[in-house]
Amino acid sequence: MEPLKGLILSGGRGTRLRPITYTSAKQLVPVANKPVLFYGIEAMAAAGIEEIGIIIAPETGEEIKQVTGDGSEFGVRISYILQDEPAGLAHAVLTAEPFLGTSPFVMYLGDNLLQGGMTDLVDAFRTNEPDALILLTPVPDPENYGVAEVDADGSVKRLVEKPPEPKTDLALCGVYMFTAGIHDAARAIEPSGRGELEITDAIQFLVDGGKRVEPHIVRGWWKDTGRLDDMLEANRLVLDTIEPVVGGEMVDSTTHGRVIIEAGARLERSTVRGPAIIGAGARLSDCYIGPYTAVGPGCVIENAEVEHSILLEGSSVRQLDGRMESSLLGRNVAIGRSKGQPRAFRFMVGDNSEIGIL
Ligand code: TTP
Repeated sequence: MEPLKGLILSGGRGTRLRPITYTSAKQLVPVANKPVLFYGIEAMAAAGIEEIGIIIAPETGEEIKQVTGDGSEFGVRISYILQDEPAGLAHAVLTAEPFLGTSPFVMYLGDNLLQGGMTDLVDAFRTNEPDALILLTPVPDPENYGVAEVDADGSVKRLVEKPPEPKTDLALCGVYMFTAGIHDAARAIEPSGRGELEITDAIQFLVDGGKRVEPHIVRGWWKDTGRLDDMLEANRLVLDTIEPVVGGEMVDSTTHGRVIIEAGARLERSTVRGPAIIGAGARLSDCYIGPYTAVGPGCVIENAEVEHSILLEGSSVRQLDGRMESSLLGRNVAIGRSKGQPRAFRFMVGDNSEIGIL
């Protein structure tokens, strides 16, 4: 078999993560202080893939290029492929055809996280040589996913997008392996009701044409980080696996459990209960950081309690009476209390922001 290439889809609209995605790519939102996208690149590198194409959108592509670079940091070569509009996952495959050529490839959604990596999957693909291999996971709510029906002989019979009455609980995860036949399939299908060229339709086209599409059941967890709650959940799952290291300065402060304090961070009179990570250059004083919190580089937290949250670089939280929890703060967001009367809430908030006051 020709060497496998990697294709990571990092374009799209990201409407479900607005307002964060107005100014940044959702694939760059950090999980345990590392962009989601990097986990996918690392998983590909670990599976022995050397050549990776990343699909980017006109609005967020430059930032992705700048942050991710040419791949040398990951031990791979990265090419960037501009998709001029987010016309669907199968459209992204067609856009990448000049890069992919006749190579078999792994396709990975850039906002997904796969705990067990993809080495297993790549091995199964190399050994069994099917026309396509799709990754499936049992879920409690299959009606919200692309669902696969599998034959008695173990091959995929039918794929249905968000079926009201699902026949199985096997949801399609955002990882697929294809041979070059997928390009003709993507060319043969029509846009769906939502106007996109769907990868499920292209795979169904392969099945209908008698091609062999094999399922592979995920070991460990898989997470699509497209919505806030999923992003927080991914952060929780990854933080659960970190090794504690205290590299910053601790003044009258303590940590409990799995906690990383990066070099250059400074804590005064504060407690961090892990799993949590505090980024380089962060300044924390008189505060409590609770489990499942990732504080980005350069953040400032004073006189406040923060738990189960992600704070991006340069954000600050000051003088809160209550605890901030289950929150995602973008870059350089400032949350605080000003002194004086009357006591009132004062906001300057961008479009589509969400503020919950309990
Ligand atoms: P989705 O999360 O399904 O789509 P989206 O990014 O447009 O998000 P939303 O539904 O919130 O508006 O996309 C999955 C991944 O694939 C994501 O990393 C973006 C990427 N993608 C592309 O690169 N090109 C595309 O045409 C589409 C639809 C998605």
